[in-house]
Amino acid sequence: MSFARLGLIEPLLAALAALEYKTPTPVQAQAIPAVLAGRDLMAAAQTGTGKTAGFALPLLQLLAAETAPVASNSVRALVLVPTRELAEQVNESIRAYGRNLPLRTCAVYGGVSINPQMMKLRKGMDIVVATPGRLLDLYRQNAIKFGQLRTLVLDEADRMLDLGFSRELDAVFAALPKRRQTLLFSATFSDAIRSMAGHLLNDPLAIETSPRNTAAKTVKQTAIPVDKKRKPELFCHLLKRRRWGQVLVFVKTRKGVEQLVATLQAKGVSADSIHGDKPQPARLRALERFKANEVQILVATDVAARGLDIDDLPLVVNFDLPIVAEDYIHRIGRTGRAGATGEAVSLVCADEVTQLAAIETLIRQTLNRFEEGGFEPEHRVPLTNTAGQILKKPKKPKKPKIAAPSPAARQPAKKAGIAPAKPRSAPGGRSGGRAGGRPAAAGKPSRRSS
Ligand SMILES: Nc1ncnc2c1ncn2[C@@H]1O[C@H](COP(=O)(O)OP(=O)(O)OP(=O)(O)O)[C@@H](O)[C@H]1O
Ligand SMILES: [Mg+2]
Repeated sequence: MSFARLGLIEPLLAALAALEYKTPTPVQAQAIPAVLAGRDLMAAAQTGTGKTAGFALPLLQLLAAETAPVASNSVRALVLVPTRELAEQVNESIRAYGRNLPLRTCAVYGGVSINPQMMKLRKGMDIVVATPGRLLDLYRQNAIKFGQLRTLVLDEADRMLDLGFSRELDAVFAALPKRRQTLLFSATFSDAIRSMAGHLLNDPLAIETSPRNTAAKTVKQTAIPVDKKRKPELFCHLLKRRRWGQVLVFVKTRKGVEQLVATLQAKGVSADSIHGDKPQPARLRALERFKANEVQILVATDVAARGLDIDDLPLVVNFDLPIVAEDYIHRIGRTGRAGATGEAVSLVCADEVTQLAAIETLIRQTLNRFEEGGFEPEHRVPLTNTAGQILKKPKKPKKPKIAAPSPAARQPAKKAGIAPAKPRSAPGGRSGGRAGGRPAAAGKPSRRSS
């Protein structure tokens, strides 16, 4: 199979040859002809398998065939993404694929001045890549108009459609023309999102290039049980002992990110960070320096979990497990991309066993566990299985025998005013809600494109 056989035009084929793309990936082979034929799509394909070109190439071709000029402040195609870094990256990819075509594209996102973005939009744009908040600001200030819009792409579609973005996305959908082509792409789609997304699409083609919600096969995954308080020490130990090169490390909180960066820098390791409290230019600079191999360790919150394409990144470490199981697939997918191999190591403490079980249920495999000598946890991490069950309770540390307890202390927990522990239900992919204001999507009402 070649790109030419998919019906792509010469300027795109020349750009692909220059990028040394020889054969289409499975998602590209299926998505490109369908988008060219005007279909709506829900496309699921593993991380690092070229979904960006899967929508960008046919989109560029459709736009190149348009004869009417794009009006001032208007846009013909909109690509929505969840993070600013991803907006930059997707815009760069579109520019690379479209380098031989006379089409205009730009990225708009928050955290930077709005005026230069307004200036760019004045001429009219063929493609705008946007994060939803800034897009709405521009729309409300009449800097962008959707009358000529023909295609909407949601990259990381399940993230865009979950509750965290629901208000903004409802406002965007209300502003867009109802007659349009809509394309959804992600490596993960929960059942709740699948049924909700059905309302957005018109007779969609479903593309699934692998079993649902599978982690990239190219990534070797392991877990190291460890006590929570010893994680920083274990990370530094592994960095030295295993002679790790570049590592992308995911930490649960912004504060935790900065603490780990400070620990590493104090040991003379070059480390930088990406999280939501950091000014946007510093976020972009950290990513650029990491991509250019000027920084060895990039520590990030889940803001860096999705979509980012870092050439030849060998290793992802989950310093903390993600709250939402799907994010595990996206995080570890920052390595093992475009056919390369990679490794993902998760440091797991006893408190995280529910998250571990939810991840293993989602990916339908248990993570191989290896204890690191000298770091065996005092609080054992219970065993888990892919049915989301926690098989063994952690062993309680033995208490020295002392005098018989008082009658009050012997009361069953309930009588003493303590609620007994509820039996745990099997965790689904999105059990447990989400810290940081992104709750589970399961209860989300369906959404319409009106
Ligand atoms: N046909 C191809 N041949 C060779 N390389 C390709 C091809 N298509 C894409 N790539 C490269 O593969 C890498 C991953 O592509 P891309 O970022 O589009 O993946 P993705 O499927 O969107 O991943 P994610 O789910 O993480 O967002 C990029 O570096 C891209 O340049
Ligand atoms: Mg992508």
